[in-house]
Formats: sequence, C-alpha cells, structure tokens
Amino acid sequence: MIENGKTYVVMGLLDPDSIAYAIGTTIKKLGGKVIYTVQNERMKRIFLDRSKKLSDDEKKELDVRYCDVTIDKEVEQLFTELKSVAGIVHSIAYVNPKTGLGDEFHTDAVEDLKQGFHVSCISLATVLRYAQAALKPHGGGVVSLTFDSRHVFPFYNWMGVNKAALEAVVRGLARRHGKDRIRINAVSAGPLATKAATNIPGFKELGQTWTNTSLIPWDTSEDKYEVANAVAFLIGPYAKKITGQVIYVDGGANVAGGHILEHERQ
Ligand SMILES: NC(=O)c1ccc[n+]([C@@H]2O[C@H](COP(=O)([O-])OP(=O)(O)OC[C@H]3O[C@@H](n4cnc5c(N)ncnc54)[C@H](O)[C@@H]3O)[C@@H](O)[C@H]2O)c1
Repeated sequence: MIENGKTYVVMGLLDPDSIAYAIGTTIKKLGGKVIYTVQNERMKRIFLDRSKKLSDDEKKELDVRYCDVTIDKEVEQLFTELKSVAGIVHSIAYVNPKTGLGDEFHTDAVEDLKQGFHVSCISLATVLRYAQAALKPHGGGVVSLTFDSRHVFPFYNWMGVNKAALEAVVRGLARRHGKDRIRINAVSAGPLATKAATNIPGFKELGQTWTNTSLIPWDTSEDKYEVANAVAFLIGPYAKKITGQVIYVDGGANVAGGHILEHERQ
C-alpha cells in the first residue's frame, strides 16, 4: 500500500486530534517515512507542543516543517529542500467561522471568503505546482480531504462551497498531471472531532445527522483511522490507475435516503 522507506509529506498537522496525525501514523505504520507540515511555529507552540496526548519523546520523533500554503515561497522552499517524495496529503482548510460558517449564509465579508478559498482550494494547486518536480521522476499520489459537497448541511455554508471547488480542483489537477503519472484524489470523510470541526458551529448536529443516516455506525473520533486507511491506499501504488476521484469514507451516509430506521440498526 505504502512504498517502504519512501517519503510522504502530510500537510496540515495541528495537534494529535488532526486527521493529518492519524494519516501520518498510519503511513508510518505501513513503512513510509513521514514529514509533517504545520502552518507556522506559533501554531506548533500553541497546539502541538502543549498537547498532553503525546509524550515529549513522541513529539520529538515527529519530523515537522513549517509551511503556510498561502505563501508561495514557503511551499516552494519546502519541496525544493525535500527533492524527492512519493506522495503528499493535503489536509488543510480554513474559513473565518464568524463569517463563513454559522446560522446565516449571507455575508458581506468578501475578503474572508477569498482567504478561505485560497487556503482551502487554491492551495492544493499551489502544492502541486511546487511539488511536481519532487514527484515527477516516478509519479506519485496526492490526496486531499473533503466533506460531502453534493448535499447542503446547516452551518457549513461557505466551507461547503469551498469543498465543491476543491473537488473540482482535484479533477483539474488530475487531468493536468496524468502525463506525469501523478494521481490526485480526495477522500470525503464523515464528521470527525478535530480543532477545525469544533470551529463549525453546530458540529454536534452534524454528528447527530451521521447517527441518523450512516449505514454503518459512525464514530467521530475513532473513524479518523478508517479515513487514514483510505488515504494510505490512494496515495500508494495499489491505486496506480485511480485519479480525479472523490472516495467517500463516511459510513455510506452520502447515499442514504432518509434516516436509518430502528430495524436497520444494530
Ligand atoms: N473534521 C472533520 O469533520 C472533517 C471532515 C471532512 C473533511 N475534513 C477536512 O480535513 C482536513 C483537515 O482538518 P481537520 O479536521 O484534521 O482539522 P485540523 O484543525 O486539525 O486541521 C486543519 C489544518 O489546516 C491548517 N491550515 C489552515 N490554514 C492554513 C494555512 N494558511 N497554511 C497551512 N496550513 C493551514 C491548520 O493549521 C490545521 O493544521 C480539512 O481539509 C477539513 O476540511 C474534516
């Protein structure tokens, strides 16, 4: 699934609750070498360094680099330094929760929306632009994280718009880089308890929606590792002919018509 000893870059680590951390841990367990990126040193100090979920030794073992994906120079520097990588995970998104999320869709905060679009969508293309040389000689896998954009969820507002755009960016990049044998896919995860998720006002309601609609029971903390397994499959050589796809790891909630009834439950 993962090429033994090869380097995989997992972008978007905030703390041990991040989906990025579950993905990195999984890739490592399967034999890959993992380099994480954190947005900046301040974020690392506030979230990762203060986290009680990892021992100091476990924290020291993490190979962490800094990269703000809205600063082209930082993305360029990261991949120039790394030279050769087998795969990249883009586990990054942001929109100002005060204006882009919540109980009112309408907003005049256009600059906030532009920033959200830059971080959550354009940045995937920025990463490919600067990482292609490091991936090109042998091809490779790139996986981003999305959330069901075919349905409209309460509170998720402009991040829902960003996720629809991100999935289109995935397809655009898949077409552009097919000739380079670089595959770009997205995993559409069900709701998972992370910092980004707790910023979504109404995250609890989203969890309840999954309790009501997921065909297979969905666990908002443990199932991070199921998402990570799918990412590890897509990023590695077993998925050599899969590109431009959105793979749902959401317990099947996206195909459910109506709530799961009592007799359909465990
Ligand atoms: N948690 C969920 O329920 C869920 C479900 C489906 C998809 N996703 C997606 O998974 C991805 C990871 O989110 P998460 O839930 O692990 O939350 P998280 O808060 O742990 O991760 C989000 C990361 O994005 C980073 N980021 C924001 N702006 C950045 C910038 N300018 N440069 C570099 N990094 C930046 C943050 O620093 C953070 O590390 C996101 O794309 C999110 O939309 C999350």
